[in-house]
Amino acid sequence: MRMLDIILKKKEGKTLTEEELRFFITGYVKGEIPDYQVSSLLMAICFQGMNKEEIATLTELMEYSGETIDLTSIKGIKVDKHSTGGVGDKTSMVLGPLVASCGVKLAKMSGRGLGHTGGTLDKLESIPGMSISLTKERFIDQVNKIGMSIIGQTATIVPADKKLYALRDVTGTVESIPLIASSIMSKKLASGSDTILLDVKFGSGAFMKDLDSARELARTMVEIGDSLSRDTRAILTDMNQPLGCAIGNNLEVIEAVNTLKGKGPQDLVELCVKAGAIMLEQAKVCSRSNAEELLKNKIENGEAFEKLCQFVEAQGGDISYLKNTEKFEKSRHIDKVIATKEGYVKEINALGIGEAAMKLGAGRATKEDTIDMTAGIILHKKVGDYVKKGESLCELHTNVDNYKQIVKEIEESFKLTDQKIVVPSIIYETVE
Ligand code: URA
Repeated sequence: MRMLDIILKKKEGKTLTEEELRFFITGYVKGEIPDYQVSSLLMAICFQGMNKEEIATLTELMEYSGETIDLTSIKGIKVDKHSTGGVGDKTSMVLGPLVASCGVKLAKMSGRGLGHTGGTLDKLESIPGMSISLTKERFIDQVNKIGMSIIGQTATIVPADKKLYALRDVTGTVESIPLIASSIMSKKLASGSDTILLDVKFGSGAFMKDLDSARELARTMVEIGDSLSRDTRAILTDMNQPLGCAIGNNLEVIEAVNTLKGKGPQDLVELCVKAGAIMLEQAKVCSRSNAEELLKNKIENGEAFEKLCQFVEAQGGDISYLKNTEKFEKSRHIDKVIATKEGYVKEINALGIGEAAMKLGAGRATKEDTIDMTAGIILHKKVGDYVKKGESLCELHTNVDNYKQIVKEIEESFKLTDQKIVVPSIIYETVE
């Protein structure tokens, strides 16, 4: 078999066989196929696409290109969730303890933030002492004992994706549904959970800018999961404004704590309760309609917050910061962004806010950058709210001394109108 023939076949829009895909993935991981040939095949896939069988086969080959995590020694059904990433997305820190407090097992591997999107690992590390690298034995033991753990992805999981993603990044081949879907699903499948809930975000702050492409990505990933016998469902959620009010690492931990104590912003609470209900149904704990009530009770009776404390303590984090969030270190500059006119908030450009938060110090422009755990933005107004001239739109937190230009960028992210706005539901639809 020759790589050149595989490239030519896909260039002509033909279907690749399992043997051909295996030749490509194993050869590339072993370093036997050069980057220039793989780039060419990736570009052909971008233009010609792949059918369902090809995508499922590619995903499975990628899944088994390295170590897979065996969670069978954890009792019960293991659930997982994945977000395609957004601005202010602290869902895992709320949803994890929430479902674990209902008896479900969550053994989750998360990622770091890059560009305008944040990552759960960075957020968790803003809690003093918190470790996100545990041995496999400790990870499994913790999930058996307290029901949850969140750690960083091990270096040995899905090496095919590590190589392919780096190449896609520099060859203009990131934007392809078969390639994105196989990249995400191979990692989720290799992480070993029985069920997967995908939170596919659409809108200005999301990877998928429009609803149609988010829906196509969600359907493709659910089909991969189904064809590989893993219960996979997806929700399409709105990322046309940041999720909740806090953007930035320790600011988002504080908002997650407040949410688990029953004082969360409406969109984040709705997302966590609805997504949690699907996860409880996947874990066969109860029906989706009964699950919402159960989850709300776990917030009201304090058990979900208690589960967060158990999880953080088990991973070395100092829970006195969760019990008294005033203890978290604050930025040197905390300043309000004031409305210069009045009206209803029509839009808060999530990409603009995410980029501004990154410039304030909360994110990384490149993988090597360090982040300021205290930096970020707290929204005082959300879409649909009425703002009077002179009122605060939001508050910025930063240790960057010269931040006046960033204030302008934040201000421009808020679009006001005279018309009353109907606030869209955070979950647009489910795909299952
Ligand atoms: N996230 C991933 O993990 N892979 C992609 O291809 C795109 C987003």
